[in-house]
Amino acid sequence: TEVIIAKTEDEAGRIYADCAARLIQTKPDCVLGLATGSSPLAAYRALAAKVQDEGIDVLQVRGFALDEYAGLDPAHPQSYRSTIERTVVEPLGLDPAKVHVPNGDLKTIAEAGRQYDEAIKAAGGVDLQILGIGTDGHIGFNEPGSSLASGTRIKTLTEQTRIDNARFFDGDINQVPTHCITQGIGTILKARQLILLAFGAGKAEAVAETVEGGISSFCPASALQLHPHATVIIDEAAASRLR
Ligand code: F6R
Repeated sequence: TEVIIAKTEDEAGRIYADCAARLIQTKPDCVLGLATGSSPLAAYRALAAKVQDEGIDVLQVRGFALDEYAGLDPAHPQSYRSTIERTVVEPLGLDPAKVHVPNGDLKTIAEAGRQYDEAIKAAGGVDLQILGIGTDGHIGFNEPGSSLASGTRIKTLTEQTRIDNARFFDGDINQVPTHCITQGIGTILKARQLILLAFGAGKAEAVAETVEGGISSFCPASALQLHPHATVIIDEAAASRLR
C-alpha cells in the first residue's frame, strides 16, 4: 500500500482530483466509486474546481456509492442518496441518472445487494474508488469482523457508528437507522484503484493497523494490503502512529 503524507486536507484532495481528472480525460465514461462522510469532501471540492477550470466534460461519468441506510426515505436529507447528490452530483455537474446509490428499501433489500454488485459488473467495474476509514478500521459500513470476501449486503450498524452518526440526526441516536446496505470488502477490492483518505489523530491507530498491521477482518481496511493499486493519503496527525 502506497502512503502519501499531505500537509493539509486540501493538498490531499488535490492529489485525488488530479488522479480522477486524468481518468475522466482518458476515459470519459469512467466509473467513480463514491463515499459519504467528511474525509472525501476536500477531494470532491478539488475535483469540482478542476472540472470547472479546465472545462472537463463529465456528462458521461458514472458513479456507484458505497452504502446507504436501510429503511430511510431516499429523499431524507441525511440519506446517502441525498448526501451524494449534494456533495458530488451537483458540484461536479454529473448526470444524476448515471450515479447509483444502494437501495435501502426494506421491502427489496434482501435482493438489492446482489443486484448492486451485478450493476457494478455490468458497468465494467469501478475504475477509481474513494474511501474514508472509521476509527475502528471500517470501510463502507463493513465493521470489524466483516468477511474480507463479502459482497454488497444488509448489515447491522454498531452502537458506536450510530452514536458517531447521531450528529446528523439532531444528536438523537433513536433517529439513526439500525441497519444499512453496504458494498462488501470483496466488492471494494474489485475496483481497479483505491484511494483512502484519513485526517486527524483520531484516525492514526486505524491507519497504522491498516497499513502496518496484519490482514484481518478485525481491521476491515487492512484488506487494502491485498489490492495491487491502493493509495492511502493522510495528514501528519493521521500518520502519527506509523512506524
Ligand atoms: C462513507 C462510509 C464510511 C466513512 C467512514 C469515515 O460512505 O462508508 O466508511 O468513510 O465512517 O467517515 P468520516 O470521513 O466522516 O470520518
